[in-house]
Amino acid sequence: MLVTLNEVLRDAKKNKYAVGLFNTVNLEMAVGVLAAAEELRSPVIIGSAECLLCYSGLDDLANMLLPMAKRASVPVVLHFDHGLTEENVKKAIALGFSSVMYDCSTLGFEENLGAVKAICDYSHSKGITVEAEIGHVGTDEISVPSDAYTDPDEAKRFAEFTGCDALAIAVGTSHGAYKFKPKLDFDRIEKIASMIDAPLVLHGGSGLTDDDFRRAIASGISKINIFTDINCACVKAAHDAYAEGKGMTDVMGAMSEAVKQATMKKMLLFGSQGRA
Ligand code: 13P
Ligand code: ZN
Repeated sequence: MLVTLNEVLRDAKKNKYAVGLFNTVNLEMAVGVLAAAEELRSPVIIGSAECLLCYSGLDDLANMLLPMAKRASVPVVLHFDHGLTEENVKKAIALGFSSVMYDCSTLGFEENLGAVKAICDYSHSKGITVEAEIGHVGTDEISVPSDAYTDPDEAKRFAEFTGCDALAIAVGTSHGAYKFKPKLDFDRIEKIASMIDAPLVLHGGSGLTDDDFRRAIASGISKINIFTDINCACVKAAHDAYAEGKGMTDVMGAMSEAVKQATMKKMLLFGSQGRA
């Protein structure tokens, strides 16, 4: 069934587990993610990000993912991740996404605040949830500069003023494959979680250790974003199946199965199994 972030993250925050967001760019990945959620009776957040729209556009994604989300027997949030433009955020909402992220984290604090507040007012009037980001989680960097880490006082002011439904924070992770071992600032997560009501989101989840996930969740993270791990699992399965002489139809099945297994592994670590 199609739900918003509030229906899955409020319970996750209360009961100290996390719900995964898994970005998908094709049918095989979407089938794998939803099969994992069904098998483990886990809530799930599925979608794609604005920077991935060159691989599959918003209209096609909505046409593919919306009926799949509605048909699922577990709660599924259809989320537009890292929306960078007001135009695409509003388009995602018009197409039926139940949740959006408006990422203005590269703007100054006041600009981010104003832009996100306007989108929150717009989205909430339509029953759609909004995630925002304060501080900045970079992409595939050597290390995240500590001046981009989320300031707890700013996070509190931001969450209270905008009324956002989830808040992504920068605490030492980055997007893509890590070149160096990330070091998470668990004290910062704990401090922010103690100050604000909105559930906290950890981006750049691929490549973190099992212990990182457990400690991040114990410190107050309620949503964890994953793309690179399932992207790599999917293409490796396609490669291996092709190398074995399999045709497209068998390759497709292998891709979905690999994504399902990789997703289930994360759901078990996040503690979201049996919560649907
Ligand atoms: P990874 O690709 O590093 O897992 O990051 C995913 C993410 O944060 C999507 O918003
Ligand atoms: Zn992200």
